[in-house]
Amino acid sequence: MIIDGKKEAAALREEIKKEISLIKKKTNKIPELAVILVGDFLPSQIYVRNKEKNAKEVGINSSVIRYSKDITEKEILKKINELNNDDKISGILVQLPLPNQINKEQIINSIHPSKDVDGFNPENVGKLASGYHAIVPCTPLGCLLLLKRIEKNLSGKHAVILGRSNLNGKPMAQLLLKENCTVTITHSRTKNLKEECLKGDIIIAAVGVANLVKKDWVKDGSIVIDVGINKMGEKIVGDVDFNEVKNIAKAITPVPGGVGPMTIACLLKNTLECFKARLT
Ligand code: GUN
Repeated sequence: MIIDGKKEAAALREEIKKEISLIKKKTNKIPELAVILVGDFLPSQIYVRNKEKNAKEVGINSSVIRYSKDITEKEILKKINELNNDDKISGILVQLPLPNQINKEQIINSIHPSKDVDGFNPENVGKLASGYHAIVPCTPLGCLLLLKRIEKNLSGKHAVILGRSNLNGKPMAQLLLKENCTVTITHSRTKNLKEECLKGDIIIAAVGVANLVKKDWVKDGSIVIDVGINKMGEKIVGDVDFNEVKNIAKAITPVPGGVGPMTIACLLKNTLECFKARLT
């Protein structure tokens, strides 16, 4: 089975849109997302354009604050402080990567945890790791929602994660632990990666190596979620060799059209959650 991320994301957006419309009727308020975009890195420009388009479609007011690549850290911190103190703003997102002169950690730490729609602020990271209610990073949240569409009860499943990044691998592990999975996190220094992968009832690939996971890395009937976005000539491919693995896996996400649309839908979901928290 091929998991249709576009369809799942459209269904989630529809739910979000309905909820926003209901709240608007009651309160005359709508969520507002502020996106900070630094420089002219093309993939970031494309992501931000997609985020804006999707936000508008569900009734979220989205604004993009653009800076040239030689902006100072101080200037961005000043803007974030302004947005933190602006009651109308529900969520703040600083698009990554940032230019070298800017300390990413400082920027992420400065976003108020209640407006941190990416879930990257250490307060949200810590809450997630402690099993408390937290804002969860959008990509792993999207992966979990897709997994749960295939298998409602993930308890006892062995999940193998490829990649240990703060954006994907680590929060993914926390989410799967919460679902009572047995979790293995693998990374670039892991020995016998193929053997580790073969243990997985679930495989989450998030390493950024084109077509890394082959058919003989995957157990019959496993669920494979591919987070990779890699350029191969003119084509975009994932971290999983889709054509090989689709015949072995019980379910697999394609690239594009799998995790990507869910990431953006989850950003809208997080923005709505932050908005609702401020209403009460
Ligand atoms: N750049 C690539 N992915 C992401 C993401 O999920 N959030 C932010 N802020 N920047 C990104």
